[in-house]
Amino acid sequence: MPQSQADQSQQKTNLLNTRVGELVANDFRIAHIFSQHNIDFCCGGGISLARAIKRFDADETALLDALMALESDGEKLQGLEQLPLPDLLNYIESTHHTFVREKAPLLLEYSQKMVRAHGENYDEIKPLAGWIRALVDDLIPHLMKEEQILFPAILGLHNQVEMQNCFGHIGNPINAMQYEHNDALQIFEKISKLTNEFTPPAHACTTWRVCYASLAEFEADLKQHIHIENNILFPKALALTA
Ligand SMILES: [Fe+2]
Ligand SMILES: [Fe+2]
Repeated sequence: MPQSQADQSQQKTNLLNTRVGELVANDFRIAHIFSQHNIDFCCGGGISLARAIKRFDADETALLDALMALESDGEKLQGLEQLPLPDLLNYIESTHHTFVREKAPLLLEYSQKMVRAHGENYDEIKPLAGWIRALVDDLIPHLMKEEQILFPAILGLHNQVEMQNCFGHIGNPINAMQYEHNDALQIFEKISKLTNEFTPPAHACTTWRVCYASLAEFEADLKQHIHIENNILFPKALALTA
């Protein structure tokens, strides 16, 4: 049944009053909409949507229309906040870690091809390839540290199993991972500026266009991945030690 205008206006008010991080945690399709409107839901997830729209100078009407369209199709994804910790860890590894491992080599391949074909003629190509290399060199060891050290430690806490570790309190590796998340996001800021927010120039060849489209996809997934860890996983893990 179509909503009345009063219902729609109430729904918009509810959206504007809800924290950005909470909206994404309840429906992960919203992460993509926020990325399109430059709303930071990773490290700026603690403020209401109304404040975020002002802070990031977003188009309120277009953003609310996109969110309302999602609401009305009735296919909300399951809120990851409700998942038990072992399932959440599996989800992160099987979805986001797998994505990084599949896509990172392609980004390297595209950017190296671009250097060979266009590196001498266009100033942005070599620095872009350098930042993509730096991003991959940071992210791959980051995934390994999570999978081999932090995630097993969180699982041990969840299962109340005594574990030998060298890092002391679980807050220490969590802080280290958050630090690395910020580093990765800062690299992406530079990539976004260099590529004019992943917009290929008119003269761009196919590899160039595919590279920019892949970078945009990679950024959206990385922001979602970091949001899940920073705002859902880590608080749950820390709560186990409280
Ligand atoms: Fe991760
Ligand atoms: Fe991470």
